[in-house]
Amino acid sequence: MVDTHHSYRARMVRSVAPSAPDEALTACSIEESTLARGPMTNGHRRQRRVGYTSSRLRNPANVGPPWVQEWLTEHQDAPAESLKQASFVADTPGGKVARAVVPMVMEASCIRCHGDRRDMPPELARTLQERYPADAGFGYQLGELRGVMWSEVPVAER
Ligand code: HEC
Repeated sequence: MVDTHHSYRARMVRSVAPSAPDEALTACSIEESTLARGPMTNGHRRQRRVGYTSSRLRNPANVGPPWVQEWLTEHQDAPAESLKQASFVADTPGGKVARAVVPMVMEASCIRCHGDRRDMPPELARTLQERYPADAGFGYQLGELRGVMWSEVPVAER
């Protein structure tokens, strides 16, 4: 199972120091590496794939698999309160996989980095533009779907 939205937020808010744009910028990538460690099963790491992604990416490396992009396209304009964590099993050529998405909705704490560029502290806006020249992860409003955390784990065949 992927982390809950709540623990995601708690960790991120903790790691975001308002006056330290550099430290702050690593907030989201730290979270991803935490997720990527994944669970151990009988001493073996299952082939678990995880990530976070969006239909408007800040970092192009965060692009998700096609099934996640499809979920995003379907839900991009849905009202926030209708967005629920979802998990399901899919048949793939490689076998059955358990898939999950956790919607990440824009909250007040996200606005500083994903809101209107003109409202960003100039130093933050500059740093973002330098690090993410193709940044499309801004201009979001409160309550909008910013993206999802997703995971995919092979289902052990009995
Ligand atoms: C301090 C700045 C900052 C804050 C606050 C912040 N983010 Fe981010 N966010 C970033 C950066 C920087 C990246 C790109 C990280 C990377 O390179 O993977 C990012 C990436 C993402 C992504 C991955 C998709 C992409 O565009 O690359 C999602 C989804 C996301 N943030 C959601 C949120 C949500 C939801 C919140 C509020 C709960 C939030 N962020 C708060 C800076 C921030």
